[in-house]
Amino acid sequence: MPKTLDDLAWPRHTERLTLRKQEPADADALWEIEGDAAQNRWTTRVYEDRAAFDADRGARAASDLVAYWDGRFAGVLMVAQKDAWSQAEVSEQAKGQLVELGWRVATWAQGRGLATELAREGLAIASEMGVHRVEASCFIENAVSWRVMEKVGMRRESHTVKESLHRDGTWHDGLTYAALTEELRARS
Ligand SMILES: CC(C)(COP(=O)(O)OP(=O)(O)OC[C@H]1O[C@@H](n2cnc3c(N)ncnc32)[C@H](O)[C@@H]1OP(=O)(O)O)[C@@H](O)C(=O)NCCC(=O)NCCS
Repeated sequence: MPKTLDDLAWPRHTERLTLRKQEPADADALWEIEGDAAQNRWTTRVYEDRAAFDADRGARAASDLVAYWDGRFAGVLMVAQKDAWSQAEVSEQAKGQLVELGWRVATWAQGRGLATELAREGLAIASEMGVHRVEASCFIENAVSWRVMEKVGMRRESHTVKESLHRDGTWHDGLTYAALTEELRARS
């Protein structure tokens, strides 16, 4: 059985960032990016107001790590652990074997390679958890995000055609990138 985020030691440090699990005191900083509609053009949800965000924060805290740069809130790394697909007879062995990564960087901190630093750390975390596979997905228009996936050496594994419905009512292509932790270990 792979480890969970709770089994790892916190905080973690990258070259510039300190990462840890969310605390209630992070709510105002998180709302700065969650409440910004322009920032969330390609993300899963735009909250209608702070109350809706607060109601959802507990659920997201299980997977969304906060990142600080010199004490200033700089972004979020999602590390969502899931069961891998399996045939029914081996479903126990597939439990928790997949990590989905996601990232968002505060507007002031964008364009300095921080998402790339977060994504690299996400791969390191998944390796340390001992999961089998890591994935990340985005709308094809979110080139900044899929460039991050490429920069950290994830492989483009699917390009789906107009399968994702945007909140503006239009259908868009989606990309999924992946890496196996056995590949990450072989690289390092
Ligand atoms: C996507 C996001 C996390 C990237 O954060 P970031 O810290 O600026 O990313 P990085 O600096 O690590 O890398 C961005 C890369 O894309 C490049 N880039 C910037 N704008 C671009 C554009 N319009 N088209 C293509 N590439 C672009 C940058 O030059 C950089 O590449 P480089 O390292 O070769 O210079 C940030 O824009 C964000 O938070 N967006 C809103 C939330 C979001 O969309 N999250 C992803 C959901 S899947």
